[in-house]
Amino acid sequence: MVTALELDLLGVVEATDKSSAVDSSWDYLVHYGRMFKCFQDKPINFIEIGTGRGASLRVWKSFFRQARIIGIGINPNAVQFADDRVTIEIGSQDDPGFLARVCAKYPPTIVIDDGSHRANHMIYTFERVFPSLLPGGIYIIEDLALHFGEHANDWKDENDAPAADHFLGIARSLLARAFPTPADWGTSRYNLEHIDRIDIIRSAVAIYKKPPPPDLSAALDFIEDYLRGRAPDAAVHERLAEFILRHSGSPDRAAAELQRAMQIGGQSPRLMRACADVFAQSNRLEDALAVLVPGAALFRDAELWFYAGQLNVNLRDHPAAADAFAKAVELNPSHPTFAYHLSLALEQLGKLPEALSAAQRGLDAAMGSQHEGPLRQLVGRLRDIITVQDKLMVPPEQRADISVPR
Ligand SMILES: C[S@@+](CC[C@H](N)C(=O)[O-])C[C@H]1O[C@@H](n2cnc3c(N)ncnc32)[C@H](O)[C@@H]1O
Repeated sequence: MVTALELDLLGVVEATDKSSAVDSSWDYLVHYGRMFKCFQDKPINFIEIGTGRGASLRVWKSFFRQARIIGIGINPNAVQFADDRVTIEIGSQDDPGFLARVCAKYPPTIVIDDGSHRANHMIYTFERVFPSLLPGGIYIIEDLALHFGEHANDWKDENDAPAADHFLGIARSLLARAFPTPADWGTSRYNLEHIDRIDIIRSAVAIYKKPPPPDLSAALDFIEDYLRGRAPDAAVHERLAEFILRHSGSPDRAAAELQRAMQIGGQSPRLMRACADVFAQSNRLEDALAVLVPGAALFRDAELWFYAGQLNVNLRDHPAAADAFAKAVELNPSHPTFAYHLSLALEQLGKLPEALSAAQRGLDAAMGSQHEGPLRQLVGRLRDIITVQDKLMVPPEQRADISVPR
């Protein structure tokens, strides 16, 4: 295993300015020794943008014993640095097609941007390449200090802000929000969802991508042991279920934790709904209904009946859906959404007068609210169908076959 100091010395020998003891150098390699240690013997793709005279490529090849090193260079002469484990790709870091091709061919675990050092290139390349970085990977932008001080304009266009401002902005948004809000979309949302953490080192920033989802089973076994002998606590099992779901763990295990919470603390509409949610998320709609329907009946809970109705619609069981929506309406007659869905379910069954009267009751309750428009439309449409059927004198048993477009 090469230590951080040894990596720094490799840099001295190969004369890269990433080492702490070469003229006008930075001390990146001291940090990289620590940051890259876990990848030293892994068969990863390591991309460096900016080949220079090949010095850093030699360092990476010596340090990473199993990796493929991909050097991106704009100068065609850089192909001279290619060998058995070093691949050279000629192109520019501001060419999206080129970057996409390289990343598709060599999905990277580590990327270092030591290319043009132009502020807008650094930001553009990060936005294009970071989505291709594999989970648990690291994206580093070097030489950010060049955009400060008296020589700043040699490295950036007059009106470019230092690229550091952009990456500090990303760090700020991570610090400011626990989870993305609807205002975060596109790249900003992607970054908030996928960045694990950010290291700031002298003149460079390292952005870590979230690792792949963990295997929870061993940790949950540990917690089960930890809880042994303690007084049973329903809230602990509810929190464990939430944790399992947030970490994409097994829905069965989450449901088991919720059922345990109900055994300890008793059933409640909230827990029954959570349990049904878990089953519904893994498309086990019958299992979800097996929890919901008894819960809705036991607690006379309109929301649970409504949820049961929606699951029955998804299962195309329209009689059961109509029955569940009707129970929701019975418990809460002034809820326009319940009435709307009851009306649709009755229409599916061909019970048009009943559907119309449910929609009309919903409309009466919805006056002045956002639900008024859709209910008014539904009432109008049902009236039209009934009028057409009456004019045609369609026998009641065939009326379900005639419909007016929605
Ligand atoms: C500082 S040198 C790289 C030094 C090298 N990484 C090392 O440590 O030994 C910067 C390199 O980026 C290359 N470069 C400049 N503009 C580029 C661009 N738009 N796309 C890709 N590479 C670029 C330059 O040709 C030069 O080889």
